[in-house]
Amino acid sequence: LKIFCGNANRELAQEIADYLGISMGVANVKTFMDGEINIGIDESVRGADVFVVQPTCAPTNDSIMELLILIDALRRASAYRITAVVPYYGYARQERKTKAREPITAKLMANLITTAGADRLVAMDLHAPAIQGFFDIPVDHLPGVPILAEYFMEKKLEDICVVSPDIGGVGRARNFAERIGASLAIVDKRRPEPNVSKIMHVIGDLQGKIAVLIDDITDTGGTITQAAAVLMEKGAKEVYACCTHPVLSGPAIGILEKSVIKEFVVTNTIPLTPEKKIDKIKVLSVA
Ligand code: R5P
Repeated sequence: LKIFCGNANRELAQEIADYLGISMGVANVKTFMDGEINIGIDESVRGADVFVVQPTCAPTNDSIMELLILIDALRRASAYRITAVVPYYGYARQERKTKAREPITAKLMANLITTAGADRLVAMDLHAPAIQGFFDIPVDHLPGVPILAEYFMEKKLEDICVVSPDIGGVGRARNFAERIGASLAIVDKRRPEPNVSKIMHVIGDLQGKIAVLIDDITDTGGTITQAAAVLMEKGAKEVYACCTHPVLSGPAIGILEKSVIKEFVVTNTIPLTPEKKIDKIKVLSVA
């Protein structure tokens, strides 16, 4: 068994290798001056069961190309089986046409990963679980909820209400609420345009409760911080939030810092750059 990675999340790949008690495979990932990526696999992989750990997070398109080129190199070097471990699957939010002449980029990604030579995919909390069906190779789809739930169980908070920040996340929130023995509430969010969210209603009783918001992705931070403010207005005592994938782009860190959210718990599917490591953010490992 061998583990390789590109530049997207070296820390996570190393943690997985440490957990397994093996050393990381040696792949030299270089970028030429014109932006092209060149990868050299500096050890034999002939007949090996190879895992490539590479979330397709920012810089998204470079991470994707590194993943594809790594898989191609490993296939041409006669690896026996190649598993693409893509903890965060970029473009997962473009999984269907919402209007005429739109691409379905999540499917294009699946085609590219398969064509490059992956035999299997491991992903976490795909924004749309149906993306599993975009692949004709086996897909292991792992949830972040057990890791997040364990953390909140250990905090021993009392009278928790788990809140889904939108209708699409209700299944995840219900699973989380059942695991930690909490009640459930739902925020009715609309998205009038990309990166803009608007809260319409809150369904459920928040009075005097500790609210814990759970989402798959936090990108600009708009969804989770707006929901948190509304939950306080609805009588919540405190608001915690958690998500699997901390994309945290644009204004996210600034608005999270200013928000009413007491603690924001995320996983390390996407690494946090130093400026994103603020006191409020707690990172749990999926390794
Ligand atoms: C949307 O359906 C997702 O589950 C997240 O709620 C969304 O991607 C979060 O985006 P933002 O942080 O930019 O509001």
